[in-house]
Amino acid sequence: MAPQQPIKVGILGATGTVGQRFIELLAPHPYFQIHALGASSRSAGQEYAKVTKWKLAIPIPESVRTMVVQPCEVAPFQDCGIVFSGLDHDVAGDIEAAFRKAELVVFSNAKNYRRDPMVPLMVPLVNPEHFPVVRYQQKQLGLQKGYILCNANCSTTAIVVPLKALEVKFGPLKRVMATTLQAISGAGYPGVSSLDILDNVVPYIGGEEEKIEWETSKILGGLLPGDEGFDLHAKNPLKVSAACNRVPVIDGHLACVSVEFAAEKKPSIDEVRAAFAEYTTEAQTLGCPSAPAQAIVLHDLPDRPQPRLDRDLHAGACVSVGRVRECNLFDVKFVCLLDNVRLGAATSSVMNAELAVEKGFL
Ligand SMILES: NC(=O)c1ccc[n+]([C@@H]2O[C@H](COP(=O)([O-])OP(=O)(O)OC[C@H]3O[C@@H](n4cnc5c(N)ncnc54)[C@H](OP(=O)(O)O)[C@@H]3O)[C@@H](O)[C@H]2O)c1
Repeated sequence: MAPQQPIKVGILGATGTVGQRFIELLAPHPYFQIHALGASSRSAGQEYAKVTKWKLAIPIPESVRTMVVQPCEVAPFQDCGIVFSGLDHDVAGDIEAAFRKAELVVFSNAKNYRRDPMVPLMVPLVNPEHFPVVRYQQKQLGLQKGYILCNANCSTTAIVVPLKALEVKFGPLKRVMATTLQAISGAGYPGVSSLDILDNVVPYIGGEEEKIEWETSKILGGLLPGDEGFDLHAKNPLKVSAACNRVPVIDGHLACVSVEFAAEKKPSIDEVRAAFAEYTTEAQTLGCPSAPAQAIVLHDLPDRPQPRLDRDLHAGACVSVGRVRECNLFDVKFVCLLDNVRLGAATSSVMNAELAVEKGFL
């Protein structure tokens, strides 16, 4: 249910690639109201439109054009019910910790706290049941209101949504192999130089393969009894191997995924397709404004999904899945696609915040 009063929100890193998507999503939001924008000292003190290299196809929303960008300090954000962070990881650690200490609720896109055993790593279309861990976090840190909640790496998000759909229907997974083809916007702005990426594929994205491998395990398992954080060393039966490539696409990460189920009895390809098509999440049933009508869009054409054609489906809030077929080495293989800056970043944070409202975690 929508709250009675609008909730004031702040955006850290508001001038960046993810920050701009936050503004696109939050300016027209039915109950979140942009109250403060933060960025580096290069931008602070100046009007948003003057310091931002705006890269979206829509104009900068009127409500933020002339807002003065603030330094990423607590004072200008003190009245915010939620602070969204699209900060560079070099600075996110200290800034987000300071905001939490000041009893602010931080929804972060940065990697700094993803491994923290007290911090949920939440993909809103996958594991909102991990929300109660924020109460444990508050208890451990002696806080009443403040907490940090992270969303996952963008390519992890693309993969973990279809994996969860399979797990819900057919039980635990045993092995997953994923090869990604990732868009250049995933590296922020200005990102990869045009001379490196045009007419080319770069078969290395620093730290990305490890992130997909361990993040998938935390998201799909490791929750301790009583919601008292995560055991990051839990023996998860699921083994993940990832290989990541940067390709000359602006937005939209594609992944080729092979899966082996733990159960002896393997589902048919038709059953796997049905599991994807039927997958429904709590964000949808609770009516979160940013939740897509379909969490997974299942494609029938043999050459889909494709970044340019399918990344805008459901306003970039869903995962597209196609080419579902048998695998000679594992059980099944498929291709999945997500908009890395929307569901892979800003949309996930906003949907997590909507879930926090619905589930009473604000
Ligand atoms: N791009 C993606 O697809 C994606 C997906 C998932 C997660 N992420 C994560 O989201 C975060 C932001 O990524 P991005 O792609 O949006 O990066 P970006 O385009 O480089 O933007 C970085 C933002 O951080 C601000 N910033 C830099 N140094 C700062 C400082 N010392 N103090 C305060 N603010 C500072 C910048 O402000 P100025 O403009 O003033 O420099 C800018 O607003 C990163 O942690 C990234 O790993 C990105």
